Amino acid sequence: MVPSFDIQGKVVVVTGGGGVICGAQAKMCAELGAKVAILDLFPEVAERVAAEIRGSGGEAQAFGCDVLEKSAIEAACAAVTARWGQVDILINGAGGNKPAATTNADRNFFDIPADAFQWVLNLNLLGTVLPSQVFGKAMAERGEGVILNISSMSAIQPLTRVPAYSTAKAAINNFTQWLAVDLALNFSKRIRVNAIAPGFFVGNQNHDLLYEKGTTNLTPRGQQIVGHTPMGRFGEFDELLGATLYLISPASNFVTGIVVPIDGGFSAFSGV
Ligand SMILES: NC(=O)c1ccc[n+]([C@@H]2O[C@H](COP(=O)([O-])OP(=O)(O)OC[C@H]3O[C@@H](n4cnc5c(N)ncnc54)[C@H](O)[C@@H]3O)[C@@H](O)[C@H]2O)c1
Repeated sequence: MVPSFDIQGKVVVVTGGGGVICGAQAKMCAELGAKVAILDLFPEVAERVAAEIRGSGGEAQAFGCDVLEKSAIEAACAAVTARWGQVDILINGAGGNKPAATTNADRNFFDIPADAFQWVLNLNLLGTVLPSQVFGKAMAERGEGVILNISSMSAIQPLTRVPAYSTAKAAINNFTQWLAVDLALNFSKRIRVNAIAPGFFVGNQNHDLLYEKGTTNLTPRGQQIVGHTPMGRFGEFDELLGATLYLISPASNFVTGIVVPIDGGFSAFSGV
């Protein structure tokens, strides 16, 4: 039998949906006929993506929502449910890093402020846990649903300089497995939780780490990454969409608790 990648008519909630990766995921879902709720801390960036989707004939609504505020997530969940009846798919995309939580020539590990470390842990980990509680509960009540988290290469083997981000994304991998098991054992065999681990894609958050300011020359770190990627290049954001669709659609109905690297072979390569 041919597997089904059909998500037509599904209701998809994307946190961080105003951003590069999740904006692309939101647009793909809409193009495939899903109804998309775009949640972002910044309502204007969420609205930009929603307007683009509507402009192409899709169905989307933007919500200003901080993934660290449970009451705001509950309000968004209530609004989405009022409009479209239910939530079928949650993509937990809000996440990121903060310069103060990284090491560099001027700041070694011992000098990272606790509040910067905590900020990164909160955004990535708690920012995934809280929406999973709110939307996951609604899925548990219906007995059906899909959650997709966003991990990172740094979760599999920590990258230098980004201790808080690595710790947080490693926790996402663990939480993905934990929640997959808990929801299947205790709520429904038809709720699945998985993650993607993007490799290196040039975006707002990491541009200055990969390219010398204002040039197209790779930084030493950028060169190291490309040199350690068997495919020899950074990824294109669209290359995250195939795995996204696989994991949120019926094609992966028997798949739960996994983290799929999309990295040009980076995580498979020993370097030798
Ligand atoms: N870009 C990459 O190469 C890469 C690699 C691996 C993992 N990731 C992960 O992918 C996800 C998306 O990354 P991106 O590159 O598209 O980043 P991005 O900065 O373009 O998007 C992140 C979005 O999250 C929103 N956001 C931030 N804090 C929020 C909050 N508290 N509540 C709600 N929304 C909030 C931002 O406004 C932004 O629109 C992140 O989890 C990131 O860690 C990115």
